Amino acid sequence: MLHERHFRNAANAPSVDGMRILLVGATGTLGTAVHQELTERKHDVVTVARTGGDLQYDVTDPAQVADLYAAVGQVDAVAAAAGSVPYKPLAELTVADYQAGLTGKVLSQVALVREGLSHVSPRGSFTLITGVLAREPIVTGAAASLANGAIEAFVRAAAIELAPQRINAVSPTVFTESLDVYGDFFPGMKPVPLADVVRAYVRSIEGQQTGQVYAL
Ligand SMILES: NC(=O)c1ccc[n+]([C@@H]2O[C@H](COP(=O)([O-])OP(=O)(O)OC[C@H]3O[C@@H](n4cnc5c(N)ncnc54)[C@H](OP(=O)(O)O)[C@@H]3O)[C@@H](O)[C@H]2O)c1
Repeated sequence: MLHERHFRNAANAPSVDGMRILLVGATGTLGTAVHQELTERKHDVVTVARTGGDLQYDVTDPAQVADLYAAVGQVDAVAAAAGSVPYKPLAELTVADYQAGLTGKVLSQVALVREGLSHVSPRGSFTLITGVLAREPIVTGAAASLANGAIEAFVRAAAIELAPQRINAVSPTVFTESLDVYGDFFPGMKPVPLADVVRAYVRSIEGQQTGQVYAL
């Protein structure tokens, strides 16, 4: 009969106790919920945002991402909960808008991985944020769909070269808690409670999966 200790002693299973975790976007709707859960699970969370958190850095600037890791040192996991993209009708989206979306959501998170390679522990993880628009289009969402799809493709590609470090993406639909603000953009789509989104971060950070896109 299997006993709990058999699971605890599973081959190569790293300890999930007290990880040191860098959380970017930690003061937002999603980041606050992720921060609370990771703290309750006894992890040591270093929080980052442009204007709040423990450390203030703008992750759209690659030099600031390098400075951030230099300040933080070694971590067991990096979790991103920041990323902005312009929403406009297709005919109004300019080159600058697409560039803003790529900078704000894609290259910022790619920089966290690129600069983080030497700062994340050997079996540590990266968890990136994307969203439902990678698979379900909405009107005004072309730049966001482009950005989210790019991150998800990047995660699958990076995973095969990162091992034994790991990388996953969390790809939620609109949060139940954000319906007041964004609900009109997602007509007929079922919202997801933040608690479920947070669970996907925990699955990515404390589990052993890699190359996964958690579609919620
Ligand atoms: N809300 C939803 O329903 C929903 C659904 C699916 C996916 N998502 C995705 O989830 C992510 C977070 O959404 P949210 O609603 O939680 O956003 P939010 O409430 O606006 O929070 C964004 C967080 O990121 C920080 N931040 C923004 N730009 C930054 C930068 N360049 N460098 C460092 N920190 C930065 C913000 O703080 P500062 O302003 O102080 O920097 C804040 O802590 C976004 O990528 C969004 O697309 C959201």
